[in-house]
Amino acid sequence: MPDLEQDIAKILITRDALHHRIAELGATISRDYASNDLLLVCVLKGGFLFLSDLIRAIQIPHAIDFMAISSYGGARTESSGVVRILMDLNASIENRHVLIVEDIIDTGRTLSYITENLRTRNPASLKICTLLNKPSRRQVQVAIDYIGFDIPNEFVVGYGLDYNEIYRNLPFVGVLKPELYGGEGSP
Ligand code: IMP
Ligand code: MG
Repeated sequence: MPDLEQDIAKILITRDALHHRIAELGATISRDYASNDLLLVCVLKGGFLFLSDLIRAIQIPHAIDFMAISSYGGARTESSGVVRILMDLNASIENRHVLIVEDIIDTGRTLSYITENLRTRNPASLKICTLLNKPSRRQVQVAIDYIGFDIPNEFVVGYGLDYNEIYRNLPFVGVLKPELYGGEGSP
């Protein structure tokens, strides 16, 4: 059995730190949406672990829905800028208070595409919650309402985030050894 943890250069965010911060986010979201009909829209695949822990930290009634998009091709660690909807939401978001749940915002291209697309469906409100944010990499400005952690410009995996579909099951967020994707330092 190969040991996935051997491919990690360093742990950036521990399991405990994730747990603690997600509890805070859940409490804040519960307060902010106390009188609203909240719908969480999870962006697959990366956001699924975050969503599952986040909803258990949210104390108010809410619904969830999923949308799958693709912004990378194959093994690349750079966003192509070409975003495709692989699976759309099940239900209409018209007049709903929508909170998008993302794993990471890097260049901002994916999120900007998703928000523009969802806005045309006339939600009552549309906000963004991301577990991770790489502000130094931004190419398209997006207003982020809830951020778990700002992280440096390093390619990370674990806790839902993958490289080539692997590493999602690691319980922490770690920096992948650059030699594994052919990079020196940052991707
Ligand atoms: P953006 O369009 O450049 O903001 O890219 C956002 C998407 O790229 C995220 O939803 C992730 O799927 C992926 N991504 C960006 N940075 C990383 C990373 O460090 N590790 C794993 N996936 C990443
Ligand atoms: Mg992804």
